[in-house]
Amino acid sequence: MLTTWSFGPTGNDAAFPALMRGGDALDGVVHAATVIEADPTIDSVGVGGLPDYDGRVSLDACVMTDPNRAGAVAFIRHYANPTQIARRVMEKTIHVTLVGDGAEDFAGREGFARAELLTQDARRVWEAWRNDPSGIDRDKYKGWIPPRNVEELRGSFVAPGAGAPGNAASAKRFPEPHHDTVGILAMDSRGRLAGACSTSGMAFKVPGRVGDSPIIGQGLYVDQEAGAACATGTGEIITGVCGSFLIVELMRRGAPPVDAVRETLERVRKRFTLLEDHQTAFCALDRHGRWASGALRPGFRHTITDDAGSRVEDPTFVLLP
Ligand code: GLY
Repeated sequence: MLTTWSFGPTGNDAAFPALMRGGDALDGVVHAATVIEADPTIDSVGVGGLPDYDGRVSLDACVMTDPNRAGAVAFIRHYANPTQIARRVMEKTIHVTLVGDGAEDFAGREGFARAELLTQDARRVWEAWRNDPSGIDRDKYKGWIPPRNVEELRGSFVAPGAGAPGNAASAKRFPEPHHDTVGILAMDSRGRLAGACSTSGMAFKVPGRVGDSPIIGQGLYVDQEAGAACATGTGEIITGVCGSFLIVELMRRGAPPVDAVRETLERVRKRFTLLEDHQTAFCALDRHGRWASGALRPGFRHTITDDAGSRVEDPTFVLLP
């Protein structure tokens, strides 16, 4: 299993034993994502995720095993398990993506329990942000107080009462200067690939904004004939290059995972006017089991889990060190 960020072991360690017993890669990635979504100290995924501009949490997620086998949900506001709902969309409908009220009605009909997603910690951080928009260049962001990446929050913003940048509990457990979407790739003992991607999106986003994570080909892409890739970071720059799809296509044409990730990050660098708070990282796993990760800027770490256990590591490379 190859997972974004240092919260990877939280999910991978729960899911990996079943993979070692011959379990299915899709079950593994969904299990891992579900555990991470349920952890309220992870403030960028699931319960405890930081809310949008209006203080409301919305979740996006997808799963995939092949071009003809994918499911996704976006703008989920009352259910804590978007990855499981995405899997259900894949398995029980003729569609790939459900959003908003329709996705929630579907989840309710499928028996998922409603949940409150906004934790007290996350509410405190949001309130502090709304009460202190100092130093924000509103013109640059078309009149809105700009949404901020968790990356930027962690580095520059101290929430009164929280005692540390961002969500104090989260900052304590996950010491990177930032973290973001969970993307999980797995290869099981029969060589089957699967991926899952889940996020609460950019902190303080414009309500209704959906990033890369639930979009097949952007936050996640899997093709048994080529490989799998997932993304984390600023959704808008991942979306512009169809990042995960591009990596898998490069691997299909023979690129090792590290080269596929590098070429994709180079595309991001060349085709965007990058802001200081723009960050993205990709994980890639090819059909032979070779893997790599790469980040646009320092700060990203991945978790690799195999029969030797879980290790949280620096990425294979950083494009702009
Ligand atoms: N990568 C998560 C997002 O931008 O929503």
